[in-house]
Amino acid sequence: LILNISATATHAIPSTLFGYMWEDINHSGDGGLYGELLQNRAFQAVIPGTQNALNAWRPFNGARLSVTSKTPGVSDALPNSLEVQIPKVVAGSIGFENTGFWGIKVQSGWTYTASFYAKSPTFAGAITVSLKSTRGTIFASKALTGITKSWKKFTLTLQPTASADTDDNVFNIVVDGKASAGQTIFFGMFSLFPPTFRGRENGMRIDLAEALAATQPSVWRFPGGNNLEGSSFATRWKWNETIGPLETRPGRVGDWGYPNTDGLGLLEYLNWVEDLGAEPILGVWDGISIANYSDLSTWPVVPEADLQPYVDDVLNELEFIVGDAKTTEGGKLRASLGRTEPYSLKFIEIGNEDQFQPTSYAAYRWNAFVSAISAKFPDMQFLATSMPTTALTPAYQRIDFHQYNSPSWFTNNSFMFDDYPRNGTQWFIGEYAVTSTNDSDVLGSIPDGRLPYPTLQGAAAEAAFMTGMERNSDVVFASAYAPSFQHIRNYQWTPDIITYDASRMVKSTSYYVQQMFSINRGTHVLSTTPAPSNDTVPLFWVASYNNDTDVVFLKVSNTGPSDLVANIFLGFSVIGFGSATSLSSPALSLNPVSGDFSVSNTLDAPELIIPVASSFALPFSDRFNYTFPATSVTVISLQTQ
Ligand code: AHR
Repeated sequence: LILNISATATHAIPSTLFGYMWEDINHSGDGGLYGELLQNRAFQAVIPGTQNALNAWRPFNGARLSVTSKTPGVSDALPNSLEVQIPKVVAGSIGFENTGFWGIKVQSGWTYTASFYAKSPTFAGAITVSLKSTRGTIFASKALTGITKSWKKFTLTLQPTASADTDDNVFNIVVDGKASAGQTIFFGMFSLFPPTFRGRENGMRIDLAEALAATQPSVWRFPGGNNLEGSSFATRWKWNETIGPLETRPGRVGDWGYPNTDGLGLLEYLNWVEDLGAEPILGVWDGISIANYSDLSTWPVVPEADLQPYVDDVLNELEFIVGDAKTTEGGKLRASLGRTEPYSLKFIEIGNEDQFQPTSYAAYRWNAFVSAISAKFPDMQFLATSMPTTALTPAYQRIDFHQYNSPSWFTNNSFMFDDYPRNGTQWFIGEYAVTSTNDSDVLGSIPDGRLPYPTLQGAAAEAAFMTGMERNSDVVFASAYAPSFQHIRNYQWTPDIITYDASRMVKSTSYYVQQMFSINRGTHVLSTTPAPSNDTVPLFWVASYNNDTDVVFLKVSNTGPSDLVANIFLGFSVIGFGSATSLSSPALSLNPVSGDFSVSNTLDAPELIIPVASSFALPFSDRFNYTFPATSVTVISLQTQ
């Protein structure tokens, strides 16, 4: 291939081009990014008296445990408590323990902050709180006194003297068996936090947060996805139930089948987006829930006559986010929770995947939300979620397009925006990922081709598509890989960009592609000849120029099975060396047997495929040859003179 990169910029690249879509799925929030270590910490969204209500809790030395709502809970929002009955005859300490989110990471040098509520009609003795291994090693322990007949909050810190070898650790609470024999003690709203990202109270798990931040995402779409919608109107994601003290957040059964604590609530998300330096894209609930995913006719839709309260709810949500702290009720509420300055919010997405219910969306839902929001917040910009074929009033300016598909779909559609009419409408690729190698069952099962982890082949196909997004970033203003996170012990969707357990994590091949594209950003696209097309497959590319640093980037995906050489000619002069970062699999390309490039980083082999940086000499200031390895993604950086 002879590739000419000209000095001519075709258009500016929007700063929002690369980022993530976020919702609590696969324990991405509770048990993932959210730092809380105790699962089922406040018995939210469970049915008292059932075994399920005790999920992640277990007795220690014969205590009888149940979840009850018969005694007042610690707050109106948290009516359920843990009832601990001590038998009449006990030897030694007795109590209960929480097994965390399939384990608890215990690390020496960390200070853990624990808290819980307790009360007892009769017992007033000491309570001992420990971080222990399941085999009985105590890493940290503290005794507390002061339990009374009414709820009292206990807060303490635990500093392990050693790190645990495994995640098989528990948060253990005991009382003396003799002193408590025959008595009942109630507990509620537990919490255990390790140090968090940037030391934020109620903050994020450090390794996961740092990994995401290291990709410098510039958009963050939240809070769902399906998890915005609820399986009924009543169980939708309700912004006002995710703010304020944790004791005032009831939680809900999320759309992905497990209770959400909502500890990771609206303010935590907004602060996190600020920490990332990203632009929030806020999805608002628009009158639809998902009763049964496989039967669209069962999805409840709010009739037009009943919609206004839900529109008002969104107006209140937006006022809470951007309202003036002195003159608006929403702004005052936000200020009362510690944030005076309004958040920056420009993009509002009306619903999620409304192509599944286009009739009501086009007939009244889109219009009702857009009209009311723009009347009150004239600067807001809207994203529609139906397919582009659905005519909407007012006409949409931006559309959110989702695509989970095979490597071949992504490579075949890499040029889908090159001829797209420049008519003022812009696209947000609001969810996308290579999910399967099976073109006819892209969301099927793993034996049927679904990927358990992203693969190098899939990542190269995503990168091919991303070159198309970047090249056409006058039309594609933003993108969001999805879903982001997966707890390996309990998940609903594969593949995901980062997979983890209680202490380990793995950055996938797709993660590295996101990072390579995101941290190497131009401000303008440069034209190339030939333009990438079906004739130049399997090489896909985009060139850009950064006005601030005078660096030219060439991003190339080679989705083919062989190394490919390009003779690259520059319409400008560069200094005597270039640098490259490449994601490829040298070991496998030497191995024809396993060299199908369906290789993945996994929790057990997390660094099989990682980007490799190199530099190369340029004997001429305006041309060079480069070999793009088989099935690889490469970003070349050239400093112009
Ligand atoms: O990302 C997983 C799900 O896929 C999202 O919740 C939904 O919007 C889409 O169907």
